[in-house]
Amino acid sequence: MGACPRGRVEEEALEAIRPGPLQLRLLEAFYSMLKRRLEACILERGIRALVEAEGSYAKGTLTSDKWELDVFLLVEGASAAWIKSRGEGLLLECLRGLPVEARYAEHPYVTVRLMGLEADVVIAPRVPRPGAGGTGVERTPFHTRWVREQLERNPCLADDVRLFKAFLKGIGAYGAETRVGGFSGLLAEVLVIYHGGFRLLLEEATHWRPGSYVDPLGLGDEAALRARYPDSPLIVPDPVDPRRNAAAAVTTRRLAELVVAAAAYLERPCTAYYKPSPRPWGPYYKPDPARVAALELLGDYAGEPRDALWGRLTRLASWLAGGLGELGFEVARWEVDTDEATRALVAIELASPAVPGLQLSRGPPAWSVRRALGYIARRAGQGLPYTIAGDGTLRGLRPRRYTRASEALEWLASRPDAPLPRGTREARVHPPGSPGAVEAAALIESRTPSWPLCLALQDA
Ligand code: UTP
Ligand code: MN
Ligand code: MN
Repeated sequence: MGACPRGRVEEEALEAIRPGPLQLRLLEAFYSMLKRRLEACILERGIRALVEAEGSYAKGTLTSDKWELDVFLLVEGASAAWIKSRGEGLLLECLRGLPVEARYAEHPYVTVRLMGLEADVVIAPRVPRPGAGGTGVERTPFHTRWVREQLERNPCLADDVRLFKAFLKGIGAYGAETRVGGFSGLLAEVLVIYHGGFRLLLEEATHWRPGSYVDPLGLGDEAALRARYPDSPLIVPDPVDPRRNAAAAVTTRRLAELVVAAAAYLERPCTAYYKPSPRPWGPYYKPDPARVAALELLGDYAGEPRDALWGRLTRLASWLAGGLGELGFEVARWEVDTDEATRALVAIELASPAVPGLQLSRGPPAWSVRRALGYIARRAGQGLPYTIAGDGTLRGLRPRRYTRASEALEWLASRPDAPLPRGTREARVHPPGSPGAVEAAALIESRTPSWPLCLALQDA
């Protein structure tokens, strides 16, 4: 492995990131079992189809924390409509007897979980070129082929992809789901390949800004892509279908996280950026439950597409944070979580769980005489001061509506315009310091990266 140009920290990290021999052997056995079953099943039914491994297992970019396979059943001559109506049923029939879970998504697929191993089994039309099947997922076999070819040409890059994926996980930016809004496995591969390595990619990434167009091989039509993806903060042409943006899921927030983390890493490389990591690094700070409030939601969320549910929770959390801010509570950060079935949690970390009973208020200008008199009368009635500023406007103190964050949260959550996710039956507030706040603090802690510790380390 010494032939690949890499730093000492990267080599140390890779020891923990590369998959182990047991993991690879078990996944191989799991794959051949699934392949045999699927092949026997389609033969029996006279369906012409091909079973193929895809994803990181097939591309050789698997990491040690992923005991997971992606298996595709590629059906000859199938229309998108046929896949949609018959696909899930066929997969469930073929995999009968195994612990299978059908998953609600735009596209039919099932997950098989067996002794800690996991396989996503996807059904898609077999097509001659990407984009010809109308389902989107039929592009996957072309991605697999393209990545494999590139990695064969430069074998050092497989470990560089693993490093970048572990880096993205460590900074909380791995995954294209709405829940994350980050970088998919494929995008990680494409970026490492486009830039010829992990370090070269990080150096480029420090210059990225919202609106960056990343296409060092010149595969895409920049103007057309910008017109088609006007709201994407990052555009990276998909190598097998360059009219598409492979980075369409990336949000500005995750892009910003990559930019700062890349710059920090290059300044001071350390293994705390990686997950998995050779050493157990803790979070760079622990939120105090005495400053954390929570809103727990109970309802029926199973019928909802996951991405939509996570999107609504995010919107709710940012609405609550805005509302708390207007009421005088300073929100440091928030996180949301859900079991995607019956329960969701919004965790809010505050500068303080309570605020003083009085707050400064801006009054009308003295020249608006009627309003000014009303303002003065209210102060006098409440025994509170007012004053006239140098420009002639009145200001004074007024009592705050809520002094405790939990009361403010209670009021916000019960407002008729509160954007609670569809299916919510009950909303419960857990005040700072309560057991619910302890759970919420643990959620925030679990989303807290380790890498800022590296910046704080003294020079050795
Ligand atoms: P993955 O999310 O499993 O990514 O999707 P990956 O590259 O294998 O990376 P890790 O190591 O598991 O994190 C693999 C491929 O399977 C397709 C995606 O298009 C992706 O290219 N896929 C996966 C689907 O089409 N549908 C699914 O529900 C899941
Ligand atoms: Mn995978
Ligand atoms: Mn998968």
